[in-house]
Amino acid sequence: MGSSIIKAQRGTKDILPSESFKWSFLENLIEKISLRFNFKKIRTPIFESTSLFDRSVGNQTDVVQKEMYTFFDKAKRSISLRPEGTASVARSVIEHSLFKNALPLKFFYVGTFYRYEKPQSGRFREFYQFGAEIFGSSLPEADIELILFAKSFFDELKIRNLLLKINSMGCSFCRESYNSAVYKYFNSKKSKICSVCLARLKKNPLRILDCKDEECRNLSENAPSILNFLCKSCCCHFESVKFYLDVLKIKYKIDSKIVRGLDYYNRTVFEFVNDEIGNQSAVCGGGRYDDLVEKLGGPFLPAIGFAIGIERLFLIMEKQKVEFKNFKTCDIYIANTSNEVKSTVVDLSFILKNKTKLICEYDILGRNLKSQIKYADKIKAKFVLVIGSKEITQGFAIAKDMNNKKTFNVSLKDAFLQDVLKIVK
Ligand code: HAM
Repeated sequence: MGSSIIKAQRGTKDILPSESFKWSFLENLIEKISLRFNFKKIRTPIFESTSLFDRSVGNQTDVVQKEMYTFFDKAKRSISLRPEGTASVARSVIEHSLFKNALPLKFFYVGTFYRYEKPQSGRFREFYQFGAEIFGSSLPEADIELILFAKSFFDELKIRNLLLKINSMGCSFCRESYNSAVYKYFNSKKSKICSVCLARLKKNPLRILDCKDEECRNLSENAPSILNFLCKSCCCHFESVKFYLDVLKIKYKIDSKIVRGLDYYNRTVFEFVNDEIGNQSAVCGGGRYDDLVEKLGGPFLPAIGFAIGIERLFLIMEKQKVEFKNFKTCDIYIANTSNEVKSTVVDLSFILKNKTKLICEYDILGRNLKSQIKYADKIKAKFVLVIGSKEITQGFAIAKDMNNKKTFNVSLKDAFLQDVLKIVK
């Protein structure tokens, strides 16, 4: 062998045709459910100014400190591959003054995101998210609409054993006292926390709560709970969210340990988790981020969103044996018996593809008739139509049902389309 083979980067993977139909199926479903909930698609660039994520996700978070793919472009600007979608959507809302449109704004997106994490089952360096964001409402009804949106998607897929965990992160007012309680707690244990968290202690002690270091995680178990620090209006908001969930009979668990790994959250945060897929059990994460748009230079525009990790969703679907509809196979293969009739075969196949929705194939490798039929069998063509000079002269050819071997006459003249459609339903 000559030069060495180049492989895909660690934590990334090719989605081969044998798998890609599953992705198309999911993407179609996402579009369908989003339409039902009246969310409109938004596409933002894959790379952004690094400062966008510094200012939104937060420069003390694991995502920004340890996991971002950051580089300088040729004009020496610091650029980062997007580690998540909310910051970009918020930037876009501000940049295009979308907040001047009728509120609320309801957007969804599907795309790739990048985090330099240690790859393992359900955790990649390039991964896909389906995300949704609502801008313009601070009311608990928006929280519920969003949770219902995510739930409907999971229900449509018939996914079982998903637990909705909720918490409230309070507002900046509640967080002031909570921050000092968390600071006090970890300060008394500072000899045990990791070096990154030691630096976080003064700047943003809350971030210690989602550090992945084992010792820090153990210590976080007994850290003070945010729920004891909520102000009256944050309490009311949280109570209303719970009230709606109860009325709608949606099961949930309050988990004060959910602090989410991103700085922009306030009030409601939530995750859908499944314990069948190992450590990376959160398939969906989201929450309110009422101050983000203003923090990024826009007006005050309360917002809430979620993102579902598509790879983790697939893991659950595989575990639960959720079925996908496979590709449509070839409807009709038009075989030729000699070179002279090839142009007729191309012409008929072109007409079929354009005038009907049938999948039609013909030979482009110069195979003899026997090999063409063998190939048609391999690609599971439903019918084979054999065309030679004799068939052209007599104005019809014979189509064979590859399943039951029945044969049919097919006109090669005016009735061609009707005849083919009659047999291939
Ligand atoms: P997140 O919790 O960082 O939130 O990510 C959301 C989901 O993306 C996770 O629950 C997980 O399923 C998936 N995910 C995250 N990292 C990876 C990875 N390395 N490999 C595979 N899957 C992964 C956000 O990204 C927020 N932007 C969600 C949000 C939207 N909050 C408000 N609006």
